[in-house]
Amino acid sequence: MNIFELLNARRAVKNFDSNFVIPNEDIEKLLSAATLAPSAFNIQHWRFVIIKNRELRNQLRSAARDQPQVTDASLLIVLCADLQAWTKDPAKYWENVPQAVRDFIVSAIHNYYADRPEVQRDETMRSCGIVAQTIMLTAKEMGYDSCPMDGFDFAQVAKIINLPNDHIISMMIAIGKSNKEPFPRATRLPLGNIIINDQFITA
Ligand SMILES: Cc1cc2nc3c(=O)[nH]c(=O)nc-3n(C[C@H](O)[C@H](O)[C@H](O)COP(=O)(O)O)c2cc1C
Repeated sequence: MNIFELLNARRAVKNFDSNFVIPNEDIEKLLSAATLAPSAFNIQHWRFVIIKNRELRNQLRSAARDQPQVTDASLLIVLCADLQAWTKDPAKYWENVPQAVRDFIVSAIHNYYADRPEVQRDETMRSCGIVAQTIMLTAKEMGYDSCPMDGFDFAQVAKIINLPNDHIISMMIAIGKSNKEPFPRATRLPLGNIIINDQFITA
């Protein structure tokens, strides 16, 4: 599919074939492709927590308003981010560039994030949002359906997955084979409602 066909074909799917087993090679192919997504300073804050354990899936479903995708999807990712990734040997994100460039970027990373917890958090969410869509579009190209999810109790899910204190949950992504047509696609706002030319008009 070309990108326009993919964008049209991707839907948030609620019903997955719970018997379908996704091959490990496909998981690896999908997640490797997704890492080509852009991230702030190439820090790749995202962490993919893959939930295979059935009992954990059941617990997560309870924490997610009993949404069936959580147990029925072939692959369930709790998409997390490392809030401190910018402090963890940041030169490793730029190993293959000349030393002078690397030094410049490492110093820029420090100046940008230090003492700015709101920026630290926002940046992880921006990067996770982009990687999430990259995962979902790649999954569609590979013949899989997906559902992004944040309809869950974040504190409960954090406990279930044993989330470290310096990490944060962005969303869940359920991936598998749809076994029911989704609703017709919900209204998209006309561009006139969402494009602002140059400046917002103040009252
Ligand atoms: C951040 C986010 C959270 C969402 N959470 C849920 C969810 O918990 N359960 C669900 O069924 N769909 C969830 N959705 C899917 C949206 O309802 C869906 O994307 C939207 O209605 C548009 O439908 P479409 O993706 O099929 O075009 C979520 C989507 C996003 C982006």
